[in-house]
Amino acid sequence: MKSKKFNFYNSNLNLNNKTVLITGGTGSFGQSFVKKVLKTYNPKRLIIFSRDEHKQNIMANKFKEFSDCLRFFIGDVRDRDRLILAANDVDYIVHSAALKHVPTAEYNPFECIRTNVIGAENIIYAAINCNVEKTIALSTDKAANPVNIYGASKLASDKIFIAGNHLAANSKSRFSVVRYGNVIGSRGSLYWILKDIIEKKIKKVPVTDKRMTRFWITLEQGVEFVLSSLNEMRGGEIYIPKIPSMKIVDFINSLCPNEKKIEIGIRPGEKLHETMITKDDSRYTYECKDRYIIEPNIHAWDPVRKKNKKIDGIKVKEDFEYSSDNNKDWLKETELKSLLVSLEKEY
Ligand SMILES: NC(=O)c1ccc[n+]([C@@H]2O[C@H](COP(=O)([O-])OP(=O)(O)OC[C@H]3O[C@@H](n4cnc5c(N)ncnc54)[C@H](OP(=O)(O)O)[C@@H]3O)[C@@H](O)[C@H]2O)c1
Repeated sequence: MKSKKFNFYNSNLNLNNKTVLITGGTGSFGQSFVKKVLKTYNPKRLIIFSRDEHKQNIMANKFKEFSDCLRFFIGDVRDRDRLILAANDVDYIVHSAALKHVPTAEYNPFECIRTNVIGAENIIYAAINCNVEKTIALSTDKAANPVNIYGASKLASDKIFIAGNHLAANSKSRFSVVRYGNVIGSRGSLYWILKDIIEKKIKKVPVTDKRMTRFWITLEQGVEFVLSSLNEMRGGEIYIPKIPSMKIVDFINSLCPNEKKIEIGIRPGEKLHETMITKDDSRYTYECKDRYIIEPNIHAWDPVRKKNKKIDGIKVKEDFEYSSDNNKDWLKETELKSLLVSLEKEY
C-alpha cells in the first residue's frame, strides 16, 4: 500500500538465516509482518506464537509454500514456561500479542493486565533466559498519558521493556519499543466497522465527536517501521514514526459520504485527541528525519550512552508535544481514498 503521504522506512536489517519469533503472529500486524519478512529475506525459522489454533491453521494454509521455515507455536504470553520453549535459539523477538480493544479492557481490566503487563514481563524473562539478541515491542499512542486501562497496561509494558535492559545488562539481550497510532484496516478497526455499515445499508452513521482527531498509519508502513527500528535499536528507545493526522469525521465521510452522521459523544476511556510524545517525555526526545526517538532516562547498561555519545537527531524543545491535533501533517481525503483502494486489493 504505497502512498506519497507515508514515509517508507528503509533498513539494512538482514534476517537471512536468522530465527525470528513473533508473538501475536496471526493478528493484523503479525500476518503483514510475516508476509513482508518472507518476501524480503530467507529466515532460518519464523515462529508464530499465539493461542487460537484455527487462526494458525488458516495462516499455515495461506503461507504453505513457506512451510520449511514457518513454525506455528500454540501458546499464551501469560505462560512463561511456554515462552521459554518458544524462544529457544531465537535471534529476534517481535512482541505484538495484546488485548487491544479499549471497551474490552475497561470491562475486563485484569485480563488486560495479565496479557499486556504480565505477558511483557514474561517476554523479557524468556528473552534473557534464551540469550535473544534483540526484542522489540509494539506500543500505542494510548500509552502516552493514558486515560484507559488498555493505554495504562501498554505504558506499563513499555516501562517493563525499557527496564528489561537493566536486568539484561550483563547479557547480549536488548529491549526497545515502537509506538504508533491507529492502523488503517487492522482487525476490528473503524474501516471494518464502516464497511459493515455500508454492506448492511445502514443510513445513520454514529460519530463520537466531530472534533476528534487520530494519528493514522498503514499496516505495511508499521511493519517497515518495526523492521528499521529493530535494526537501529541499542536498547531502551521508544521509536515514534512521523505520521499524519485526520479527523475521525473526515475518515467516516470518505467512506460514507451520503449517510447521515449522528454525534453520540466520546465513549468511556476515549480521548478527544491522542498524544504520542508528552511534554514530560520531550526532555529525552530527539527528532530524526522520519521519526522521533524517546531515549531512556536511565541507561546504566549502555557504555556508549554513558560516555554521552550523541545519538543521531536533534533534541526537541523542552515543551514539545506530539499530538494528533497539533500535528503539522494532515491526511487529505483524496490520499486516504487512494490508500483504501490499495487496502481493498489486499483483502
Ligand atoms: N491495530 C491498531 O490500530 C494498533 C495501533 C497501535 C498499536 N497497536 C499494537 O500492535 C499490536 C498488534 O495489533 P494487531 O492490530 O495486530 O492486533 P490483533 O489483530 O488483535 O492481533 C492480536 C494477536 O495477538 C494474539 N494474542 C492475543 N492475546 C494473546 C495471548 N495472551 N498470548 C498469545 N497471543 C495472544 C492474537 O491471537 P490469539 O487470539 O489466537 O491468541 C493475535 O494473533 C498490539 O500490541 C497493539 O497494541 C495496534
